[in-house]
Amino acid sequence: MKVKNICCIGAGYVGGPTMAIIAQKSPEITVTVVDINEKRIAAWNDPDVEQIPIYEPGLSEVVAEARGRNLFFSTDVDAAIDAADMIFISVNTPTKTYGMGKGMAADLKYIELCARQIARVAKNDKIIVEKSTLPVRTAEALKRILDNTGNGVNFQILSNPEFLAEGTAVTDLHKPDRVLIGGDLDSEKGREAIQALVDVYAHWVTPDNILTTNVWSSELSKLTANAFLAQRVSSINAMSELCEVTEADVQEVAKAIGMDSRIGPKFLKASVGFGGSCFQKDILNLVYIAKSFGLNEVADYWEQVILMNDHQKRRFAAKIVKTLFNTVSGKKIALLGWAFKKDTNDTRESAAIYVADYLLNEQAEIVVYDPKVTQEQILADLDYLGTRSEEENRKLITVVNTAEAACAEAHAVAVMTEWDEFKTLDWEAIYTHMLKPAFLFDGRRLLDKEALTDLGFEFYAIGS
Ligand code: NAI
Repeated sequence: MKVKNICCIGAGYVGGPTMAIIAQKSPEITVTVVDINEKRIAAWNDPDVEQIPIYEPGLSEVVAEARGRNLFFSTDVDAAIDAADMIFISVNTPTKTYGMGKGMAADLKYIELCARQIARVAKNDKIIVEKSTLPVRTAEALKRILDNTGNGVNFQILSNPEFLAEGTAVTDLHKPDRVLIGGDLDSEKGREAIQALVDVYAHWVTPDNILTTNVWSSELSKLTANAFLAQRVSSINAMSELCEVTEADVQEVAKAIGMDSRIGPKFLKASVGFGGSCFQKDILNLVYIAKSFGLNEVADYWEQVILMNDHQKRRFAAKIVKTLFNTVSGKKIALLGWAFKKDTNDTRESAAIYVADYLLNEQAEIVVYDPKVTQEQILADLDYLGTRSEEENRKLITVVNTAEAACAEAHAVAVMTEWDEFKTLDWEAIYTHMLKPAFLFDGRRLLDKEALTDLGFEFYAIGS
């Protein structure tokens, strides 16, 4: 079977970029990305392609090439489901904030709503692709909903987790390390469905890089990949604290161990802690699943990755307070960067949010500059924590348009995101306009310690 019409439910950080690339590489397939968020869809359709809602290097060019040709964005979910022979579900799967499994389990209500909508609308056979990250065995629940509430049509369910990293989504999608497709390998129809999806990716991915497995392995591989990646960050961050008290340097340690081919050099950068919408939620989900099977040691092992990350954010904030003579009350602290990493405007679970919150509790005045994050988003992130009233947040936080403006008259500057532009700021001028002693806290090990100390800064970097 050749797929001619794809629908993707969810036009977010995953649905948008993945579908844009599929459309770019497969001109004969019509790809429609749908979402209930009208504002988001309007932004995807903005005549000025630079205004698309997700910032990713190279993405606006891809959208400009395919949009209106075979790539469409719409709020008409029913129509897109009806027309499609393959439907990707790419909706959010946040951590539950209520009831059973609160704070741990994945909230699958958006997934279930999609399944019920597909079942209601579908009048012919369809392949359903789980693109969202889901707990292992979710496909089973989806199948039961689809088969029991549908119109008697046949649904094949595939798991096709997404491994792109925000900030490099376009290159990751163009040249994936692997594409993983899980399906029912034991039935003819299952194998056909797998092949149909393999054929979509084969437009640009070499067959050796397309892996097929059973559905459960595929679902669990995504949680495992994120757990391993986050674990590396927490491992090197744990060593960063030990480095600070022993005069070892975490960068030197990382280099030394990274040259061991069994360990490898990537993902060994000490920092103020990982953020992003996925690592924490997926590990919590893994912990919840392990616990629900009574595997308490497995659960405790992975939970430690999160505890270490929380500790790292807290100790960075505490270091600022301690260094500033044990009080930041009424002091101006500039945060450079708010996004959870460079080259994205995504702020979900960003370390900056938690460090700011800690410092606000210590009555600091915070000034933020981020090249891609809006004031509206920064305030929304803090309001969401619910630590203090919205009025107080607006009183204590200022958002400015340049790094220089953020740092002027500040008691301290903290680098929260590794944006390249922070490396080449005129640090000498910044030093001149700060209060003295001028404290600089590098939460990303981005800056040159020697050069900045020579300029006069009291410089602290994680891990040395
Ligand atoms: P997102 O929150 O940016 O996008 C999800 C979109 O789905 C939202 O725009 C929402 O309005 C829409 N939606 C929810 N329910 C809907 C419904 N019933 N009908 C139509 N639209 C609906 O989320 P993001 O970041 O794209 O993540 C999606 C999934 O992909 C999650 O499961 C996540 O774990 C996974 N993932 C995310 C990665 C990332 O880097 N953000 C990487 C790999 C996987």
